[in-house]
Amino acid sequence: MADWVEACAVDDVEKEDVIRFDHGGRTFAVYRSPDDKFFATGGYCTHEKAHLADGLVMDDIIECPKHNGRFNYKTGQAKGAPVCVNLATYPVKIEAGKVMIQI
Ligand code: FES
Repeated sequence: MADWVEACAVDDVEKEDVIRFDHGGRTFAVYRSPDDKFFATGGYCTHEKAHLADGLVMDDIIECPKHNGRFNYKTGQAKGAPVCVNLATYPVKIEAGKVMIQI
C-alpha cells in the first residue's frame, strides 16, 4: 500500500513550473500546470540521469534539460527520441494548502 507524503506547499510551485522532491532515497518531480493542477512523476529522465526539475514546462509537456527529450507529465508518456521509456506518474491531492503525493 503506497503512502501519501507531503511534497511541498501549493505556493512552492509556480504555475507552469516544476520542483524537485526527494523522499526515502528516491527523487520525484512535482508539476503545476498552466491551468493550476498538480502532477507528480519520477524525478529522473528515463534516457540518462538528468533531473526533470531542471527542465522546462510547456503546457502538459516537460522538456528534459539534457537532450531536450519530452514527456507528457500528466500521463508519463514519452513523446519521442531520445526518450522512449515512459515516466512513472503518481497520484496527487491537495490538502490544507499542501501538495500530497502517493508513492
Ligand atoms: S537525459 Fe533526458 S533526454 Fe537525455
